[in-house]
Amino acid sequence: MAVEAAKVPQITLNTGDKVPCIGMGTFGSDRFTAEQVSNAVAGAIRAGYRMFDCAACYGNEDQIGEVFEAAFKEGVVERKDLYIMTKVWNDMHREVEKSCRKSIEDLKCGYIDLFFIHWPFPNYHAPHCTVDSRNPDSKPFSVAEFMDTYRQCEELVRKGLIRHIGISNMTIPKLNAVIDKFEIKPVACELELHPCFQQQELFDYLKAHDIQPIGFMPLGSPQRPERDMEPTDIADMQVPEFKAIAGAHGVHPAIIALKWAVQRGQIPIPFSIHEMEYTSNLESTMTEPLTEEEMKVIAGLEKNNRLVKGQVFLWEGADDWHDLWDEDGVIVDCPDAE
Ligand SMILES: NC(=O)c1ccc[n+]([C@@H]2O[C@H](COP(=O)([O-])OP(=O)(O)OC[C@H]3O[C@@H](n4cnc5c(N)ncnc54)[C@H](OP(=O)(O)O)[C@@H]3O)[C@@H](O)[C@H]2O)c1
Repeated sequence: MAVEAAKVPQITLNTGDKVPCIGMGTFGSDRFTAEQVSNAVAGAIRAGYRMFDCAACYGNEDQIGEVFEAAFKEGVVERKDLYIMTKVWNDMHREVEKSCRKSIEDLKCGYIDLFFIHWPFPNYHAPHCTVDSRNPDSKPFSVAEFMDTYRQCEELVRKGLIRHIGISNMTIPKLNAVIDKFEIKPVACELELHPCFQQQELFDYLKAHDIQPIGFMPLGSPQRPERDMEPTDIADMQVPEFKAIAGAHGVHPAIIALKWAVQRGQIPIPFSIHEMEYTSNLESTMTEPLTEEEMKVIAGLEKNNRLVKGQVFLWEGADDWHDLWDEDGVIVDCPDAE
């Protein structure tokens, strides 16, 4: 059932580094235990995955680190063969190095390949919180605070703790406010991307600036936490046009979503604890591509179906979750935008 890792198509980052065109997510969605997730990571390495999307706040880096350590010891892979990504959580923006060192220690991997600022503001929410949880310390995006966090990441590159910097959950107005200030350019941006939520403008902006889009929730995250579920949400994999394409290929719609993602040029990071699923997700990058016509049909499925609305990050005075996403083209309530 394993895929030859060297045969998985690759993408070249703005540093010249080559990485796989697909990675594996490791967020247990509050539903899967750390052990279930780390077992899946062990299986995924054997199946041929080489890129893993971790995060301090997923609460499973220690267990995943044991899997990495065992894989190195047993000679299944060498450290240099893996592309390990993790993220600083919102409560550690003033102590980025401490957070990074903890992730390196937990993941037992010596250094991080790609280190993300998980959210562009320091608004903390506890794991397993409900959708109406609010933290009184939450505040809107500030250019100065974000750049202070980013500068700390740049220091980590200089110290050799991380190789590349990533940003996540950004918007075009926020990017415009900081894009000229980087001393070390980010290589990638993680953003929500699935067939009914394509963020075409932001996707094009990232491509134009040579920042690689990494698409999270590529399958529309059917197992996402309760706090990210609303009655109006669309189940991407159930959309009839989408099911029809999957039927024509004789595969699960998940495989079509991943083919679309890779052919469009984002790196999808699907999650699954099931061997059959994660193996077929990886194989999808090497089997029959979608036709131009099929790509066009999927391009037409955009429904502005944002699933992670981010209510738990709202600050006092914010209207609702739309304020997090700067939909009118300005950064909402920003104290220091130029
Ligand atoms: N930067 C950020 O803020 C951010 C936010 C969210 C997520 N992420 C990252 O993105 C990753 C992916 O997102 P996600 O885990 O929420 O959602 P996802 O990958 O869109 O969906 C995962 C679910 O899809 C199902 N699935 C996977 N492969 C399948 C297949 N071949 N056939 C049928 N069903 C399949 C599984 O459900 P069943 O278990 O029911 O089979 C699995 O739980 C996360 O794990 C995390 O690493 C980052």
